[in-house]
Amino acid sequence: MQTIEEILKGKEGKVKIKGWLYHKRSSGGVVFFIVRDGTGFIQCTLRKEVFGDKLKEIEKTPVESVVEIEGEAKKDERSPFGYEVRATDFKIITKAQEGYPIAKKKHGPAFLLDHRHLTIRERKYFLIFQIRDAVLRYAREWFIQNGFKEFHSPIFVSGACEGGSTLFELKYFDRKAYLTQSWQLYAEAGIASLGKIYTIAPSFRAEKSRTRRHLTEYWHLEAEMPFCDLECLMKTIERLISYMTQKVAKEKAKELKELGRDPKDLLKVKSPFPRITYSQAIEILQKEGVQIKWGEDLGADEERVLASKFDVPFFVMYYPKGIKAFYHKVKRDEPNVTLSVDLLAPEGYGEIVGAGEREDDYEILLKRIKEEGLNPKDYEWYLDLRRYGSVQHSGFGLGVERYIMWICKLEHIRDAIPFPRLINRVYP
Ligand code: 4AD
Ligand code: MG
Repeated sequence: MQTIEEILKGKEGKVKIKGWLYHKRSSGGVVFFIVRDGTGFIQCTLRKEVFGDKLKEIEKTPVESVVEIEGEAKKDERSPFGYEVRATDFKIITKAQEGYPIAKKKHGPAFLLDHRHLTIRERKYFLIFQIRDAVLRYAREWFIQNGFKEFHSPIFVSGACEGGSTLFELKYFDRKAYLTQSWQLYAEAGIASLGKIYTIAPSFRAEKSRTRRHLTEYWHLEAEMPFCDLECLMKTIERLISYMTQKVAKEKAKELKELGRDPKDLLKVKSPFPRITYSQAIEILQKEGVQIKWGEDLGADEERVLASKFDVPFFVMYYPKGIKAFYHKVKRDEPNVTLSVDLLAPEGYGEIVGAGEREDDYEILLKRIKEEGLNPKDYEWYLDLRRYGSVQHSGFGLGVERYIMWICKLEHIRDAIPFPRLINRVYP
């Protein structure tokens, strides 16, 4: 037996494949079956000369039946995937029921999301999920090559990392607990054990608004480094993002093109990345006629305006204290500003990374916790990290789906993850 991928890589001659019948059509005594096996899609032709009267029955095979086809694989420029299998033998392994819900006709997004377990069989998702697999692999590669170790934190937590408004609360036996918004606070403990660390894990945000770029459950690629200041942090982020982006542009060029992303756009992504400060961002926005004052947060609309001015990712540095979480280090010569930095993707996509140097002074951190209306008791363990061997340290979090959305040039973040969790959706 061969995989379709092996054939598409140039295996010609006698082959046997097993897969799902994706599409079918017939014309002039030839039945065209497109078969999908998880490694690729290929066109198979079944001819009257070979199958005789049986072809009429074969033609009736319901789509999504699991089939086995033997035949001659040949390069064929006319066939949609460049190769075709001229069938000599055909078997149904499992016959699908008639009436497959995702027929060729156009369905609305709600219908498709209700049938997501089937919708993901579409070729578009095959392409996106391959890219998802690839970029996460490249990220791991880069972390390993650069001396980072994988470190894990709990999903059930007792306090907020990114502010109470997006915290999912749940009953944890006889008390309250929350779903984690970020691995970060535990990572800050982890660096004193394992040094430079990273994770790729789910984070949860009770996002109450419907947008194109928010999920309630998303995958978060985070890293934390001791003995690292803001400059070291930004270098780390741009090196990692350049590595992942260059590699996907080269190794998944075909898939990207088919999704409508020109890989050349991504080959431009090289360190160093452009940098602007938050204050400069406000000036740019005001010049563009956007109603925003210094001190206000950049929302999706503001980021879209900024991000349409760049064709590569760019940093926005030094956000005001009032709009960043309590743990950000206060800039010592400008105490209403933090040593924070976001990375925004170009073409209007906006924030993909949130990052910063962490407050390492016990007194200032305690004051910030109180200022933000948090209960210092919930953060006792975190304060211990400043009591016992506080160290200059920094870290970042990349929204995996935000990154994939930009890389694949998607309209909506829900297509970057197999089973999106949205404000109105936990099924299927
Ligand atoms: O900017 P955020 O909130 O930063 C943190 O959570 C830090 N603790 C990370 C760290 O320093 N270790 O989130 C980081 C990134 C955002 O830049 C965005 O890409 C993504 O996570 N993100 C979301 N992605 C999808 N849906 C949501 N609701 C998201 N919220 C944040
Ligand atoms: Mg952020």
